[in-house]
Amino acid sequence: MIETNHLVIGSGVAGLTYAVKMAEKFPNRTITIVTKGDEDESNTKYAQGGVAVVLDSEEDSFQKHIQDTLIAGDGLCDLSVVEMVVKEGPKRLQELVLWGANFDVNDKGEFALGKEGGHSEYRVIHHKDITGYEVERALLARLHQLPNIQLLTHHFAIDLITEHQLQISQNEDQISCYGAYLFNDKTKSIFTIKADTTLLASGGIGYVYGHTTNPVIATGDGIAMAYRAKAQIKDMEFVQFHPTALYTSEGGSSFLISEAVRGFGAYLRNTNGYRFMPDYDDRAELASRDIVSQSIDSELKKSGASHVYLDCTHLDIEAFKSHFPNIYETCKNSHIDIAKDWIPVVPASHYLCGGIVVDKNGKTSINNLFACGECSRTGLHGANRLASNSLLEALVYAHNIFLYHSSFQKKSKNVLIPNWNDSGTVTTKENIVIKHNLKELQALMQDYVGIVRNNDRLTKAITRLDLIYAEIQELYRISKINIAICELRNMINVAHLIISQSLERKENKGGYFNVDNKV
Ligand code: FAD
Ligand code: SIN
Repeated sequence: MIETNHLVIGSGVAGLTYAVKMAEKFPNRTITIVTKGDEDESNTKYAQGGVAVVLDSEEDSFQKHIQDTLIAGDGLCDLSVVEMVVKEGPKRLQELVLWGANFDVNDKGEFALGKEGGHSEYRVIHHKDITGYEVERALLARLHQLPNIQLLTHHFAIDLITEHQLQISQNEDQISCYGAYLFNDKTKSIFTIKADTTLLASGGIGYVYGHTTNPVIATGDGIAMAYRAKAQIKDMEFVQFHPTALYTSEGGSSFLISEAVRGFGAYLRNTNGYRFMPDYDDRAELASRDIVSQSIDSELKKSGASHVYLDCTHLDIEAFKSHFPNIYETCKNSHIDIAKDWIPVVPASHYLCGGIVVDKNGKTSINNLFACGECSRTGLHGANRLASNSLLEALVYAHNIFLYHSSFQKKSKNVLIPNWNDSGTVTTKENIVIKHNLKELQALMQDYVGIVRNNDRLTKAITRLDLIYAEIQELYRISKINIAICELRNMINVAHLIISQSLERKENKGGYFNVDNKV
């Protein structure tokens, strides 16, 4: 067993920012980060467009950013959270810069500002089209200078330890978290981390769908763990589909064509070459992404085509190459010359607006358990996230949780935590069952729980999911732990939450559209 003051599950922007802040301020406290892959593997690493922050006080204002966020969220944002996040943004960005993150500047040496869907002004700070890679690089570099942080890679968090796990009776509102059970993928052993506080910074759920912009690690583990620990989970029906993932016939994890490319002037065209977005919204290609994704979905349903196109041929290609070198190269490697060819694109699952409910200090409904970043539901995004508000949210909430933990240091109660019990389990030889059920789950979510839903498909999805759940739960019970089975079990939990909370929503809002709802 390891004992630590602060356990962090996840090494994306949320987990790393919090850990760096805590380690800098409290050299005598221990911070342990566990992450299931390489240290930088995360959604953060693939973020392209940038961080939305108000820096230009002439054209832009906090009020405009607040208003854009509220409009995108379609009436379901928490106003006080939106105000807090937007106003804190510049200070948090400044800290990133002090830690060494580089962002593009213009001829005057000021930060170059990009624009994306739903933004009324240019306010997206970026590093070329690989902003997340740069943020992750800078945070990891700072982290490695701090001796009181231990970073354990290829360590998979299986479950949180609470009174439920320990089979201690406790009032539901007094349940506490004491740490987590971890699986070391290198030694294939399971051990306990006991912690005064635990932070879930475990990211998103994109891989639950057959087509996603997310890497394969985005399996919703933290949300599933919190759900099993009976934490409050909300707004799971609001899965955001990014309008422009690069289309490939295989599907799976797809390369993103940043919304900033539309901010740069690209047009969406259907397979007849018609520029359709002005028919759907006055903001055309720069409408918020729920509207653009639903419009593409409608075009695809009408034409029966598998994709639409993003047309960049009228743009200044040299300037494009300088702004979006990664997108340019990736298209070129796929034999798409953006100076002549339209880029085939399709919407893909991208971001989860809901998740583990937290207050402004990142506190969940379980004592000593905190959540930050994409796994959390803060109230910032409402029914649809405004582009580039996600890195911002993680930075602001990591700071708030740090402040909260600075104001007191609470030792967790001295409970006896038993070792993980895997007696009677065997190494599974049924990997084909895991693989098959994963494919079935992803197809089910893609086909029945996609951009446009109806009650019939949602109900059928629940019935199918129950069968997959029963099969995998039994396999999990008798098998020695491996990551694939744990991730699938987590994805099933997440899918259940998305479908059941979709069925509960009787009013269409933002990214949620059910044809059977009257409003
Ligand atoms: P992540 O960065 O996903 O990190 C999660 C971490 O948790 C990972 O290290 C993972 O390995 C670890 N983990 C998960 N489960 C476990 C487990 N069981 N045990 C141990 N470790 C675990 N947002 C913006 O604001 N601007 C953008 O331009 C932008 N572009 C994007 C482009 C793409 C292609 C994608 C996919 C997303 C983009 N987003 C963007 C969204 C944004 O990147 C994410 O929401 C944000 O980075 C999430 O950060 P996070 O720290 O919460 O999670
Ligand atoms: C993008 O660059 O289009 C992604 C931005 C985001 O998801 O916030």
